[in-house]
Amino acid sequence: MSGTLEFDERQARAVEIMYQNPDVSGQRSEVLRRLELRQGEAVLDVGSGPGLLLRDLALSVGAGGKAVGLDMSAPMIAIASRRCEGLPQVALRQGGANELPFGDMTFDVAVSTQVYEYVPDMAGALAELFRVMKPGGRILILDTDWDSLVLHTEDRARQERILKIWDEHLADPHLPATLSPKLRAAGFQITRREIIPLLNAEYHANSFAAGVLDGIRSFVAGRSGVSKEEADGWAQSLRDLGARGEFFFSINRYVFQAIRPAIK
Ligand SMILES: C[S@@+](CC[C@H](N)C(=O)[O-])C[C@H]1O[C@@H](n2cnc3c(N)ncnc32)[C@H](O)[C@@H]1O
Repeated sequence: MSGTLEFDERQARAVEIMYQNPDVSGQRSEVLRRLELRQGEAVLDVGSGPGLLLRDLALSVGAGGKAVGLDMSAPMIAIASRRCEGLPQVALRQGGANELPFGDMTFDVAVSTQVYEYVPDMAGALAELFRVMKPGGRILILDTDWDSLVLHTEDRARQERILKIWDEHLADPHLPATLSPKLRAAGFQITRREIIPLLNAEYHANSFAAGVLDGIRSFVAGRSGVSKEEADGWAQSLRDLGARGEFFFSINRYVFQAIRPAIK
């Protein structure tokens, strides 16, 4: 087994459920607040996934605006279109970040959360994003750097092996560390960089940690010498820590805001 995570029907549904927990919902509110959307604006969501943010974007720009979701996964597009039913300002397109099916200078705002870390050709993807932004247009990109993970374990060697394999679920598990020069090279002017930390200092089933740990368990099982039993054992050991009040998980989401400079 090899390759990054595939957003098939099962995975799309898992993301839809996990991204409605209080941790990711809170992150979404923070993203929305930072976008400062105005009624009537045209906004693009690159990798819109289950459409949770897209629906909020649509409500913020109103019926006179446009909220366009793009995603390469057909199951994600199907979930998002159900979620955004009845909102005429929403349009959904199936396609990839490296070939945006939109004209030059179309959007006032673009957002992309937890997507570019899956994209192998970032220079190409950012060139495309720059092309479709209006001069003065605002972008917000949020990604995880997996070096920021703090996850308590009693078997560090096993966990390090498992997390090394989990890194393979992304094209770049450390994208935030190099995103600034990439944005500048594409022509963007960076306006703000911040962290949104996710902290689960206790184990709860309805938490980001629980969702992501289950995702890791199922991704690594059967890869690079990790058996299903070993992956299950690792996940169970973390739940056991939770039952004893000894669980600890935190990770950072990195938020980059930038503009396509206005033409002078
Ligand atoms: C982890 S989900 C995030 C979904 C959504 N942005 C959110 O935060 O709720 C990643 C999404 O990116 C999409 N994706 C990955 N690579 C892509 C690419 N090259 N072009 C377009 N979409 C992509 C996947 O299909 C998936 O829906």
